[in-house]
Amino acid sequence: MERFQKFILLPLILTASLPGLAFCYSIINGPTNATVLAGSEARFNCTVSEGWIILIWLSNGSPVLTVSSSQGAFETSDRFTSQNYTSSSGFTSELIIHNTQLSDSGKIECSVQQADSKFAFLSVQVNGSLSIKNSTLTVKENETIEIVCEALGWAPAPDITWMTNDSFIDKSKYVTQQSQGSNGLYDALSILTLTLTDTEILTCLADIEALPNPQNASVTCIFVNSTLENAYSEDSRSTWVIVLAVVLSLVGIILLIIIIVVVVRCCLKKKESTYQTEIRKVSAEKNTDSDLKNMQRHGSENQGYIPEERWNTEHISRIPSSSPVSSKITVPAEDLHTSSVPKVRPQRRTDYPISPKKIRNVTLV
Ligand SMILES: *[C@@H]1O[C@H](CO)[C@@H](O)[C@H](O)[C@H]1NC(C)=O
Ligand SMILES: *[C@@H]1O[C@H](CO)[C@@H](O)[C@H](O)[C@H]1NC(C)=O
Ligand SMILES: *[C@@H]1O[C@H](CO)[C@@H](O)[C@H](O)[C@H]1NC(C)=O
Ligand SMILES: *[C@@H]1O[C@H](CO)[C@@H](O)[C@H](O)[C@H]1NC(C)=O
Ligand SMILES: *[C@@H]1O[C@H](CO)[C@@H](O)[C@H](O)[C@H]1NC(C)=O
Ligand SMILES: *[C@@H]1O[C@H](CO)[C@@H](O)[C@H](O)[C@H]1NC(C)=O
Ligand SMILES: *[C@@H]1O[C@H](CO)[C@@H](O)[C@H](O)[C@H]1NC(C)=O
Ligand SMILES: *[C@@H]1O[C@H](CO)[C@@H](O)[C@H](O)[C@H]1NC(C)=O
Repeated sequence: MERFQKFILLPLILTASLPGLAFCYSIINGPTNATVLAGSEARFNCTVSEGWIILIWLSNGSPVLTVSSSQGAFETSDRFTSQNYTSSSGFTSELIIHNTQLSDSGKIECSVQQADSKFAFLSVQVNGSLSIKNSTLTVKENETIEIVCEALGWAPAPDITWMTNDSFIDKSKYVTQQSQGSNGLYDALSILTLTLTDTEILTCLADIEALPNPQNASVTCIFVNSTLENAYSEDSRSTWVIVLAVVLSLVGIILLIIIIVVVVRCCLKKKESTYQTEIRKVSAEKNTDSDLKNMQRHGSENQGYIPEERWNTEHISRIPSSSPVSSKITVPAEDLHTSSVPKVRPQRRTDYPISPKKIRNVTLV
């Protein structure tokens, strides 16, 4: 009985006397405040002196991990694990919270039974989205513009600041409103009002402690000198008109050319069967009948009529040879033509049926 009583009393006596015996059984270093982004991990250290028996980690008052000096850590959840370090100063238990959630925010406590307890705060933050509602802007002289920057789904509400090119804009130039959604996340809307005198890159920055660098969104505000702007708009209008006119006229010209080419080809195909073949035939004869070249020159204006001239000269040649020179000089060219015309037409008609045979010869070549 006495033994049993002593066995029960021992821990009671120990716990009662421990605060007084802090030098031999206490927390040397407790956890420190931490701020992390949701989804990442959070770590806390708790260093206890020699002689410790049991160490308990609590998150917002609930035990999440227990470490025993004899049996090590009892991990009951994948999200809460620990690492141990032993040094000359004591034993260090490092609590690791994986995949942190917003609900993990709060008090993290390291307890060595009733002996001692140290705590810190975990802040889990959410990196939301940031955007400027206006895309590229053009601003005129003396024109006051409003640029809207929207931050959605943050925790806590982000600090919004504005920059123009590389310098911060005075806080009086913008107004930021915050609102909290049902999911516990915050939205912020910041409206910047300003008048520009030059082209500027306007940047909206949103910051929370957990972010290594603020998130930012930018818009380029193009300053347009009003006189230049008018010229520009007129220019663009006139260039459009010119472009349209050029395109339309080009299309028209191309159509005309196509029509002309088609028509000419059609006509040529028909004509080729008559005049060209005749001419080719005649020129071929020209080469062979070198004696008649002089006569041909006389009628060079109308090559088509050469055969008739030849026909005439043949007649002339039949006439006594004493008078060809005088007849050439005295008889004007017009007379020759007029005289030949009535003879030409009937001859052509007689030649016509013969010509198709000669076309075939030409096309074969
Ligand atoms: C830890 O966080 C709490 C709550 O945010 C704060 O009151 C306390 O001053 C912080 N401690 C340190 C050392 O920063
Ligand atoms: C905890 O202590 C160990 C050993 O000194 C160290 O490596 C680790 O970075 C510490 N962790 C934190 C969160 O301070
Ligand atoms: C925060 O969110 C933005 C936009 O979603 C992303 O570009 C950025 O990398 C995030 N920052 C961190 C530290 O995760
Ligand atoms: C802009 O304001 C200045 C000063 O009030 C004035 O002199 C100038 O004519 C204004 N420019 C335009 C384009 O209205
Ligand atoms: C920018 O966008 C906001 C909201 O879409 C609009 O109210 C404002 O007039 C825009 N600012 C300019 C300069 O277009
Ligand atoms: C801001 O930057 C833009 C683009 O780099 C430049 O054209 C403009 O002159 C700058 N404005 C000022 C006031 O420096
Ligand atoms: C905006 O964010 C990008 C990417 O995070 C960074 O490279 C850039 O320096 C930031 N700009 C400003 C003005 O902070
Ligand atoms: C607008 O352009 C004119 C001529 O280019 C210049 O004299 C004037 O200073 C410009 N105005 C501004 C506000 O830049």
